Amino acid sequence: MTLLFRRFHSSPAFRLDVGDGKLWKDGCEILLGRKPFAILVHLATHQNRLVTQDELLETVLGKQAASESLVRTHVHRLRVVLGDGVIQTVAGRGYRFLPAVDNVDELRSVSDVDVPKLAKTSRSTIGRAQELACLETHFRRARERQRQLLFIDGDQGLGKTTLVDAFIEQTARGTRLVSARGACSQPFGRREPYVALFDALADLCRGAHRKRVVEVLARYAPTWLLQMPGIATDAEEERLRLRVRDSVEPRMLRELAEALDAIAAQTPLVIVLEDLQWADAATLNVIAALARSRTPSRMLLIATFRGSELAPRRHLAQVIGDATIEGRADLISLGSWTEVEVSDYLAVRFGRHAFPSGLAAAIGQLAAGNPLFTEILVDELESSRLLSPKDGIWTLSARSRQSPRGSRTAFVRRWTSRWSGTREPAERAAALVKERPAGFWPP
Ligand SMILES: Nc1ncnc2c1ncn2[C@@H]1O[C@H](COP(=O)(O)OP(=O)(O)O)[C@@H](O)[C@H]1O
Ligand SMILES: [Mg+2]
Repeated sequence: MTLLFRRFHSSPAFRLDVGDGKLWKDGCEILLGRKPFAILVHLATHQNRLVTQDELLETVLGKQAASESLVRTHVHRLRVVLGDGVIQTVAGRGYRFLPAVDNVDELRSVSDVDVPKLAKTSRSTIGRAQELACLETHFRRARERQRQLLFIDGDQGLGKTTLVDAFIEQTARGTRLVSARGACSQPFGRREPYVALFDALADLCRGAHRKRVVEVLARYAPTWLLQMPGIATDAEEERLRLRVRDSVEPRMLRELAEALDAIAAQTPLVIVLEDLQWADAATLNVIAALARSRTPSRMLLIATFRGSELAPRRHLAQVIGDATIEGRADLISLGSWTEVEVSDYLAVRFGRHAFPSGLAAAIGQLAAGNPLFTEILVDELESSRLLSPKDGIWTLSARSRQSPRGSRTAFVRRWTSRWSGTREPAERAAALVKERPAGFWPP
């Protein structure tokens, strides 16, 4: 069985080869442990229904050997690989797999759907030229051994991850670099410290520089390596254990800083830590320490966060404030899309279209310039046939007689499954899409 799904309409497709035990993203294989893989298969084959923790323990992991916290660890690993908006947590009960899933074998027999096309998408980045230039400048400085720290602030869906992806993809095409990524996730029950940093280290240990990274970690950061199962061999682990007597915070902090500098000594190193609004205190202390360090290093640390969720998190606000005020870090604040960017988005997404000139402004106004909201809204317009192709050209058919897909409530439900903010904008958008009041949609 081969399953295909995507996070969002225009994001890369994931391909799950159940028989071969492999997961692919846009043609690249993603290494997953046996158990996270089994959990993913179970979730994807029970799409959009609640899968309880007990069910996963009983059917996938084997109840004796596994615990609920292990389920959480595996699901966290899956979220790092798949991104937000794929596995939803149903608080205290379990998980729900959100994206629509296509079974390639069935598609092949039922219709002539072009499977290779589904599996391969090129994602275009709209706008953000200035932000990309800023990232490049920081990378150039890092390459000259001036350690760099850059914070990127933007609400949910404004395009932080997309910007960083585009920067790394573009830079890696012309320069040798090592990059790794880790994400903080919304706290759910007791949380382990340093999750995002362990993810980033695990990412490094899987990449092309694996051998050197593991050697560096064994030498400079044994405490970290010992807490990453499956990376060191048993014999290495035994040796490391003799050297490590405790894993207290100052020691972990020092070890990590030395290891990262050692990795960056040969090749520029870009570490991306995402969604710091959910970071634990220990992770924030590492970032503060890296910001204070004066040792020259070819390291660029990029940290993203949602500034609007900062107020109750004084620790993060203080780390960012101190580092930027002392001139040890810079900050990019992502702005909303203007009408021009919405218009570019429509052009890239639909190719040949004859939309009225006011459409981009109407969508921009409804979506408040948020790219994710724009995407959700346009998905709805398309599936409601408000946007539809006529003789190969996409048009806005404001008075279409086709029945819109589902009810207003269904729209809001789909919207809230992809968006964790308030429902109010969804209600408003749903009314305008489903009821099509005269005067809102351009003629
Ligand atoms: N500059 C952009 N160009 C094209 N699509 C974008 C852009 N920024 C964001 N998007 C789309 O909006 C959605 C949310 O973007 P994402 O980068 O995940 O936001 P964030 O990380 O800030 O929450 C993604 O599906 C992405 O495809
Ligand atoms: Mg993101």
